[in-house]
Amino acid sequence: MKPSNTLTFASALAVWVALFTVSLQPNAIASGGEHGKGKVTFTRDIAPILNANCVSCHRQGEIAPFSLGRYADVRKRAKQVLEVTESRFMPPWHAESNGEFVDEHRLSPDQISTIKTWVSLGTPEGSRTDMPAPPVFPKDWSLGKPDMVVEASAPYTMAAEGGDVYRCFVLPTSLPEDRYVAAIEVHPGNNRIVHHVIAYLDSRGQARKLEQKMSDGQPGYVAHGGLGIMPTGALGGWAPGNLPHLLPDGVGSELEKGVDIVLQIHYHASGKQEKDQTKLGIYFTKTAVDKRLRILPVFAPLNIPAGASNYTTSGISILPFGNDVSILEVMPHMHLLGKEMTVSAELPDKSVKRLVHVPEWDFNWQMNYMYKQPVKLPISSRVTLTARYDNSAANPHNPNSPPKPVYWGEQTTDEMCIAFLWYTVDSEHLTQGKPVKDILDLLGGLGRGGGGTGGLRKLRQNAGPSSGS
Ligand code: HEC
Repeated sequence: MKPSNTLTFASALAVWVALFTVSLQPNAIASGGEHGKGKVTFTRDIAPILNANCVSCHRQGEIAPFSLGRYADVRKRAKQVLEVTESRFMPPWHAESNGEFVDEHRLSPDQISTIKTWVSLGTPEGSRTDMPAPPVFPKDWSLGKPDMVVEASAPYTMAAEGGDVYRCFVLPTSLPEDRYVAAIEVHPGNNRIVHHVIAYLDSRGQARKLEQKMSDGQPGYVAHGGLGIMPTGALGGWAPGNLPHLLPDGVGSELEKGVDIVLQIHYHASGKQEKDQTKLGIYFTKTAVDKRLRILPVFAPLNIPAGASNYTTSGISILPFGNDVSILEVMPHMHLLGKEMTVSAELPDKSVKRLVHVPEWDFNWQMNYMYKQPVKLPISSRVTLTARYDNSAANPHNPNSPPKPVYWGEQTTDEMCIAFLWYTVDSEHLTQGKPVKDILDLLGGLGRGGGGTGGLRKLRQNAGPSSGS
């Protein structure tokens, strides 16, 4: 045989092998086969996904019910892991988003299909040498030592029975002068039970009065999911998995002299008696503040008939007159009947910009969403809010059985329809002596210490049973 023939045969074989391999590939993928150089394994492919997206909560002593750190833990729950990731129930992230928010907890379609492949292959472990080192979580404050730490006067003891608890703790700041805050960091005293925390402000001493009326000998007061008072401001919220972030340089959130922080904590029942004393770390601004972080609440009235399965309401808020603004964060808020909320901005050219859309509201995962790039809204824009509620018996979260008419109120059995927007005014330059007054300054409302809740009171009357509609 001539060498050239041998060569031809060899190359034909190579082509055939290549073709065969190529033709195998799509099949293998469809039936959950190859991934990269070899099969999908736990140690090489799955552990890195879980470490980056799940283990912050799913580890010993944390809020999630089991650990997902080791092969043995994950193998026995593999089907469930696939179910909750495919349905996007986990990791908890309730906004529809495309990378516009800081710390977006969402798996990519590729990551979900890798998990699917791994499960269909029978959950192979793979080589132990591929196993990544377990992630390291900050034991202490992740932003470093706070400038000020506030906490309840004593630990709170949660009973073994009785389910979830909502409790508000009044934390005096005793500040001798007004300060600007750059960040807050929540340090749960007991990670097994602290489900979410919202830090409100009260400059009128209303929350102190409620605390004094409590007679169970424990710090704080019972709030049934609400706050029991109309806050004068809010510093923000936290849920497990949320990392604290500093405001951009030159922006600060005002903390008035003498104001109280009201820490509303949702405790998740663990079935055992538990103790907690959550700390709130406060970081003051380190550079001169040029712009005040302001808060704009957007409300919609509520009057939800008993049994209504698709009650819709909407509200509009104009932006503080005469100025372009930049929105830094948004936090939707509803109670147990809430299903969906959309907050949008209508620009002067009539175009609509979506600020946040929560397609499936979950009261247990209330979050504030921080934009990677502040959203610029020109002068004369309007913010609109639309929300949907299910007050039917078919809603498993309905706190009333049988359903009752539901109005605006503080209790978990009442409802709320509100979105908080945190923003700065572009033309404000405090360092150049150019403060800007906004609607809330003029009303003396949220965060300004005055009696500016007239609008809210009116809402309640318009929507409430006393309006006699
Ligand atoms: C921010 C904290 C957090 C993160 C991150 C998180 N989980 Fe969870 N997970 C929980 C909590 C809390 C529960 C208990 C149910 C609840 O309260 O919603 C839970 C429940 C589960 C359940 C049980 C669901 C059921 O129906 O009982 C599975 C499975 C699960 N998580 C898987 C995952 C996976 C996989 C990831 C990562 C892709 C993940 N979780 C990320 C907090 C978290």
